[in-house]
Amino acid sequence: MHDLLIIGGGPGGCAAALRAARGGLSVALFEPRQVGGTCLNRGCIPTKALLHGAKPGCDWSQLAAEKESVVAPLRSGMEKQLKAAKVEVIPAQAVITGPNTVRTADGTLWEGRSILVSVGSLPAPLPIPGMDLPGVSNSDGLLDDIRPRDHLLIIGGGVIGVELAWVWASAGCKVTIVEALDRLIANLDRELSQSLTMELKKAGVTVYTGASVAEIQPGPAVRFTHKGEEHTLAADTVLVAAGRKPATAGLFDGVSPAMDRGFLTVDEHFRTSIPSIYAIGDAIGGAMLAHKAEAEGDVVAHLLLGKTPLRGTSPIPSCVYTDPELAQVGLTLDEAKARNIPAVSGKCVMGANGRTLIEGGKRGFVKLVFHKETHALLGGQLCCYRASDLIAELTLAVSLGLTAEQLLRPVRPHPTFAEAVTAAVEAGLEALERPV
Ligand code: NAI
Repeated sequence: MHDLLIIGGGPGGCAAALRAARGGLSVALFEPRQVGGTCLNRGCIPTKALLHGAKPGCDWSQLAAEKESVVAPLRSGMEKQLKAAKVEVIPAQAVITGPNTVRTADGTLWEGRSILVSVGSLPAPLPIPGMDLPGVSNSDGLLDDIRPRDHLLIIGGGVIGVELAWVWASAGCKVTIVEALDRLIANLDRELSQSLTMELKKAGVTVYTGASVAEIQPGPAVRFTHKGEEHTLAADTVLVAAGRKPATAGLFDGVSPAMDRGFLTVDEHFRTSIPSIYAIGDAIGGAMLAHKAEAEGDVVAHLLLGKTPLRGTSPIPSCVYTDPELAQVGLTLDEAKARNIPAVSGKCVMGANGRTLIEGGKRGFVKLVFHKETHALLGGQLCCYRASDLIAELTLAVSLGLTAEQLLRPVRPHPTFAEAVTAAVEAGLEALERPV
């Protein structure tokens, strides 16, 4: 009997395995594909490697090789860490057959005092005709087939859609995005959407928002309605990036923890309705992000070791690795208003930021949202170079409940993008002090 059986070796499962094993628990990790999961093998890391290398005239086979040269050492590094921590990695699909039992495909039964479900998610197919036609792909397929396209048509303008549009457009390919909602990346701040849409259009991407896709036809071609007009656009590849679904189908046999539309329901300690079974990451819903899963995995391992977790699990920052980068944490002004929270915002546009001008001067901003009465930072939205790094400072401030006044305490170095945080806080303080 193991102390812990972990189903799924993505960032969440690996973080939990390492923490639990280093703390002295006996751990078996079931992963039929490669450790590192979607993030390392089919998601964040390969996409960011491509975003880094894609440019007009780039050598596509070299780009694919560069992607692999980033992924491979990270994967083998994780394998080595798991081995050193004495985590038993079982290269097999696992089915949970009871509160303490797991069965692998060869019929072997495994027993564990606790089970952790960290199975992640899969690209969700669209309920439209033509999904199985040749030339229709999801992000897994596209990242496995790095080559130029005459026309890449992307259904879905969420994070996956816009990042992969950016890769192929940066390399000089024709790209079209067809999005159902009235704006791209609709889960982020409206102004972030507007800035991104403008940059995508400048990069030559055609964007249809508020579009209703009817079907994919052989060719492939996509038939959709936009502003009352019907369009049929032919492409050499149609990428469907319309969301992901939890990978929980077929995971349980003879035991049924509570679920909501395929997502496992958990309490504040990530325990499912069956007390010995925990679940984290994409499989429980919320932001489907590697750093969320990783933080949750670390917390579950601490709990199983009888320790108070040191890591928090909210707020979760979101980043989009386009150029400029976008990042967001906590509440937007619209969200604060919708929740009847009295709030003001302070904004610094990057046009006067020395470092931004040095690095090429794309438009951008740092926007901060403060509670009108307590002056606590409620959230931040960034559109600038290094936004994905800068958001860490704001995440720290939101998670500690720091106020505008406290955010002015550190002297930020010059010339940096971070100076815009000081300027945005000052703008926020002006708004806080303005009589109503
Ligand atoms: P998403 O939920 O972010 O976006 C899907 C988009 O497709 C939405 O805008 C939706 O309105 C649109 N859509 C749905 N049905 C449609 C239809 N029939 N026609 C046209 N548009 C349609 O999902 P996405 O982009 O697939 O990403 C999945 C997950 O992966 C997300 O939760 C995201 O957070 C995560 N991810 C995060 C990244 C990052 O943090 N940089 C990068 C890539 C993915």
